[in-house]
Amino acid sequence: MTMLSQRVKGISPSATMAISTKAKEMKRQGIDVIAFGVGEPDFDTPEQIKAAGIQAIAEGFTKYTPPAGTPELREAICAKHWRDYGLEYHPNEIVVSVGAKYALYAAFQALCDPGDEVLLPAPYWVSYSEQIKLAGAVPVVVETREEDGFNLDPARVAEKITPRTKVIVLNSPNNPTGAVYSPDILREIGFLAIKHDFFIISDECYEMMVYDDAQHFCVAALEPEFKRQTLLVNAVSKAYAMTGWRIGWVACQEPIARAINALQGHSATAGSMNQRAARAALTGPQETIREMVAEFDQRRRYMFERISAWPGVTCARPQGAFYMFPNFASYKGRSFQGQEIRDIDYLGTLMLDQAHVAVVPGSGFGAPDYIRFSYANSMANIKAGLDRVEAFLRHLD
Ligand SMILES: Cc1ncc(COP(=O)(O)O)c(C=O)c1O
Repeated sequence: MTMLSQRVKGISPSATMAISTKAKEMKRQGIDVIAFGVGEPDFDTPEQIKAAGIQAIAEGFTKYTPPAGTPELREAICAKHWRDYGLEYHPNEIVVSVGAKYALYAAFQALCDPGDEVLLPAPYWVSYSEQIKLAGAVPVVVETREEDGFNLDPARVAEKITPRTKVIVLNSPNNPTGAVYSPDILREIGFLAIKHDFFIISDECYEMMVYDDAQHFCVAALEPEFKRQTLLVNAVSKAYAMTGWRIGWVACQEPIARAINALQGHSATAGSMNQRAARAALTGPQETIREMVAEFDQRRRYMFERISAWPGVTCARPQGAFYMFPNFASYKGRSFQGQEIRDIDYLGTLMLDQAHVAVVPGSGFGAPDYIRFSYANSMANIKAGLDRVEAFLRHLD
């Protein structure tokens, strides 16, 4: 008898978690590591949000909540969708989850049967492919290209549709590429979903983080018929610097919400005090988001200038989220101290081991020639980290 199930044997550990664990271990050993690996804002959770969590604890709001979340938070989530997109949801169409990550996991579990196909634009956030497989479904990759700014081409999506297509995953603004899809693209995808009867899981975690003249559009709000077809996934994690509070949600038609609610009732539900804090985030002042995004934008401009100037490196200008995704393909075949760089994952490992800079190699994102650099780090660290990478690249033969 084998120890592990086929289900878990098929999944890979999270590449982003792996690198941050290794970097933390190096730091623990006293090595000064600069982190470009992290997927979380380096800002502190705003005070009024923390205070709401503390108050909840002080008041004894420390017990189970309904598996779909407190009515108050679900109402606040409905109000947020109305305020931001004119989208009208009923609290019965909202399920609060343990971060967007669990909302996505539950959504795939609720929709997919073994053999169903899920269209997944690549490069993609590392967990989608594994969550799709955990639901017994098959990820069907739809390539996006650096030369198109990693924009999704609806014609390429159309080519991959089969009678087994159950879902398409949209993630705009995108992790890791920073692409932000235009309303025209989203509309075309929405009409394909209606025509071929598949669902859209739209992960809008980075909705607030858009730059230059890019604008975020919520696919569910673009045409009246799109809302039924869409499962909107979002979280307070990125916008309010609340990654550790673990509060996300899915907004979708009621029968699906009921199924996710039932699934959560037997698995994982969000903490009560954290839900209070999330409610304070959604209903309180929103200025801190603007301040954080302005700071991210400065760092983005600085990093883009420097990375674009590295010899042999190309980089699409990111329009959203907080990542750069440069292409290092031309470094394949070069060597470091006699060791050949056979793939870019190895180059990423060398950046951590030799330059003490933590980055995330692109293979986990379905883009093995790339490396993800997060700019969720102070300007001083960004400058020092890029200096280190530059010095390291100069040493390659
Ligand atoms: C695209 C995307 N979706 C979801 C998540 C997970 O969010 P949460 O921390 O709310 O679970 C992340 C985190 O990095 C992400 O980048």
